[in-house]
Amino acid sequence: MRVLSGIQPSGKLHLGNYFGMMKQCVELQEKADAYIFIANYHALTTVSEPEKLRQDTTDVALDFLSCGLDPEKAVFFRQSDVPAVQELTWLLSTVCPVGLLERAHSYKDKIAHGKEATHALFAYPVLMAADILIFQSDIVPVGKDQKQHLEIARDLAIKFNNKFGETFKVPEPQILEEVALVPGIDGQKMSKSYNNTIELSASPKATRKAIMSIVTDSTPLEDPKDPDTCTVYHLYKLMASPEQVQEMADKLRAGGYGYGDAKKALLNAFNDKFSDFREKRAKLAAEPERLEEILQSGAKRAQAEARKTLKMARKAIGVE
Ligand code: ADP
Ligand code: TRP
Repeated sequence: MRVLSGIQPSGKLHLGNYFGMMKQCVELQEKADAYIFIANYHALTTVSEPEKLRQDTTDVALDFLSCGLDPEKAVFFRQSDVPAVQELTWLLSTVCPVGLLERAHSYKDKIAHGKEATHALFAYPVLMAADILIFQSDIVPVGKDQKQHLEIARDLAIKFNNKFGETFKVPEPQILEEVALVPGIDGQKMSKSYNNTIELSASPKATRKAIMSIVTDSTPLEDPKDPDTCTVYHLYKLMASPEQVQEMADKLRAGGYGYGDAKKALLNAFNDKFSDFREKRAKLAAEPERLEEILQSGAKRAQAEARKTLKMARKAIGVE
């Protein structure tokens, strides 16, 4: 079974990305043939500072490898290192109705938020379909927000297969609905775009600052508190052992336990959970050549697979 997923290098990765996507990818590498990539061409639809894009790309690579992605098991690469994906994007665009793209929520949202309606932003789902179809992926684990993009990828596979003969496997989405949305420090969905993240790679000091500034209600210290409405508790649940979680819930309900205490417990849980990560990351960050070697070797493996499908598609459509 082949599993594929990608993440855009458009800012520092955070706990929402980790629990919502990265952790699943790391688990899947044990059971499946996993292809994980850094979607830097997709990021170009919103990032226009070259230095930032380079830095964010390196950061995503460091974060993924440090949280357990094993480049011997998973094929880990940069999207831009597999040019066959671009060629397939064009071939797929010949069977893609404009109406399908006009209905894409993500495109409409971005325009509504004042983003320029560029061709790249419009064609984003076609590039994503090429990412998926070129590796003949069976399963694509993504968050709910990507569901429609996956449907477009399935549609394009079916349309192409019907018109030019069986070429692509029609992928199944694996929508990660069981993964509760990780809340940010303001209680909304944690997201780079909301400036409410707890970054995986922040310094211990910055992590402390972020955790201490989690918004809580104004229940006085001595009063009982409801864990279910407490962001600190929701984050703690992701990181602490079941006994520790139960203990915090009991203490909050009993009263006499403040949000400050809960935040300290969360900080400790974060530091425990991510201490290996920090160590690995610092080590790998000091070896940029090794990082580049890992990405290049992933790219070679990805290119070889991608070329096979591209050849089939080129033959099917009549350019070969
Ligand atoms: P952001 O909202 O920070 O820009 P992305 O949209 O780039 O994050 O998401 C990358 C991956 O991380 C997606 O698979 C997405 O579903 C997941 N993800 C992002 N934020 C969260 C969150 N708060 N909770 C759960 N999953 C998330
Ligand atoms: N659009 C996805 C996101 O923003 C990233 C992505 C690009 C992707 N290509 C993909 C995810 C292919 C899964 C499969 O999260």
